[in-house]
Amino acid sequence: MRTLQQDFLRQKMQALGLTREQFANQLGVKKRALDTWLLPVASKEARQMSESVWQLIEQRWPLALSQRPDCSLLDTLHCDGVPHLLSVGQFNRDSLEELFGIAALLEPVARRQKICPVLDGAVLGNLFFEPSTRTRLSFGAAFCRLGGSVCDTTGFTFSSMAKGESLADTARVVAGYFDILVLRHPETGSVAHFAEHIEVPVINGGDGSGEHPTQALVDIWTIAKEFRRLGKQIDGSCIALVGDLQHGRAVQSLFRLLQVFRSIHFKLVAPAGLEMPRELLEQAEAAGHRVTQHSVLETGLRDADVIYATRIQRERMTTEVMESYPARFRIDRNAIESFARKEAVILHPLPRDSTVEANDLATDLDGDPRLGIFRQTDNGIALRMAVFAVLLGVVPDLQGAMRDARWRRPARVGRQDATFHLL
Ligand code: NCD
Repeated sequence: MRTLQQDFLRQKMQALGLTREQFANQLGVKKRALDTWLLPVASKEARQMSESVWQLIEQRWPLALSQRPDCSLLDTLHCDGVPHLLSVGQFNRDSLEELFGIAALLEPVARRQKICPVLDGAVLGNLFFEPSTRTRLSFGAAFCRLGGSVCDTTGFTFSSMAKGESLADTARVVAGYFDILVLRHPETGSVAHFAEHIEVPVINGGDGSGEHPTQALVDIWTIAKEFRRLGKQIDGSCIALVGDLQHGRAVQSLFRLLQVFRSIHFKLVAPAGLEMPRELLEQAEAAGHRVTQHSVLETGLRDADVIYATRIQRERMTTEVMESYPARFRIDRNAIESFARKEAVILHPLPRDSTVEANDLATDLDGDPRLGIFRQTDNGIALRMAVFAVLLGVVPDLQGAMRDARWRRPARVGRQDATFHLL
């Protein structure tokens, strides 16, 4: 049954921290009209609010007071009493869903329809000691879109680590400069080690072949959104993970995080020598999932609801191993038309190797609606904003801080996009 109109309006105003006057302004109605909607039903002056206003409120501020995210997610993101996001192991199904709810709330900001400057005055230190385009820039853009400022450093050559400075010293120094830090580093475990030394929140932007938790969060949120459109559920679905499963931190983090769902059939498709580590596979089976391994696309892609392709991590292997990677792992239109389901969702953490004949996700599928790779990268903004909002404790302020953006924005981002981003 629907909540009483008066309770509904009161809850929304309270959740947003707005007075009657401010709320009426946000709705574009006179305060007198709002007053009549708030009168007890028995009152002679009481008026029924129109369905369109009811819908407008629900769409613009979807979270009712009782569901409003506050600090429970923040609790799960505590490591030794400090809020950090270091590993996918910090999440369970509830905290995942809570985070996705916050990301959904922030989508109008990512789509540039709204501004939400809740981090006005805060500064992010974006420290990337390995190559990156989308992770570094999307963290930076997400922080700026919440009103904060960003300082970046890239590579070892121009950092004091090239002079022999320890990670612990660097951590303590930069903690004095920034309100939150993102670190990408080539050594597995380095980001957790860095975080041990400081009380400023740290986000793991990728530690060697270790973890890439925010990429896995973006990937699962993307799968959930694509499935909603297709009327599917992650529980019980079939997900093919293809490529270098041995060294890929993004695909391993995704595999681990997906295990919070139920009864997934994982199809692990990798050439000999680049298979998923045994212990991760056993964990998945112990958690009640079905895991099958495949060395050819033909059986690996069949029946998959999601095909998640990955790049060969050439920086983490010798040239001989790299050269022995068989060409048959190229996911192109022919492979998809021959082996995949008609409505399979095709994803990739990117970058993909787009050179001719590369052993990666080919470009001949570009423009195909099944290819979700750019919706996936776009989703990274709202998701990373949600992570910042949680770690810096501003989730309760988000709804009240939203304002209309005033600049001109594109209807679509890429020429081949359906819209930005409503399919
Ligand atoms: C991934 C990474 O760096 O781990 N890229 C990314 O962050 N989106 C995947 C890769 O480099 O292949």
